[in-house]
Amino acid sequence: MTKVPVQFTLNGREQNEFVDSGSTLLAALRDKLGLYGTKAGCHQGTCGACTVIIDGSPQLSCLTLAERCAGKSVTTLEGLTGNGALHPLQQAFMEGFAAQCGFCTPGMILAAKSLLDRNPSPSRDDVIDAISGNICRCTGYDPIINAILTAAEQLRGARKSA
Ligand code: FES
Ligand code: FES
Repeated sequence: MTKVPVQFTLNGREQNEFVDSGSTLLAALRDKLGLYGTKAGCHQGTCGACTVIIDGSPQLSCLTLAERCAGKSVTTLEGLTGNGALHPLQQAFMEGFAAQCGFCTPGMILAAKSLLDRNPSPSRDDVIDAISGNICRCTGYDPIINAILTAAEQLRGARKSA
């Protein structure tokens, strides 16, 4: 298989990789870079488990060619923790029992982060809309929605006191 060079930013760091032409970002993250936070579910764009943030917007890494990420900024779950501390979204998911089996959780958190980066004060409907492409088979969604709203509140508070 032809290898192609790809230079991109991954979780804030410059990354230079050779990837198989036609391979997905999901495969590059998990199989090449060992970043297993990005979950592989359906591989066909329907479950949302593989959601990452590319240049600020949530994208399905199973439908994204790795070579198309050249020059872009990619954020995965591993990019959220700073100095070992959980991101407020991770904290809120943990405290609000918003993760059960946890398979959907990374995708949910990244879809939510992208929303909160764009809209720090989302309504409940905004949150529902933002995670509408992410399927959860365990929680019934309410704990997830509540956790995202809790994290939004905490982030707003942190910004005010900064
Ligand atoms: S693995 Fe990408 S949407 Fe399901
Ligand atoms: S917590 Fe199991 S799929 Fe969402």
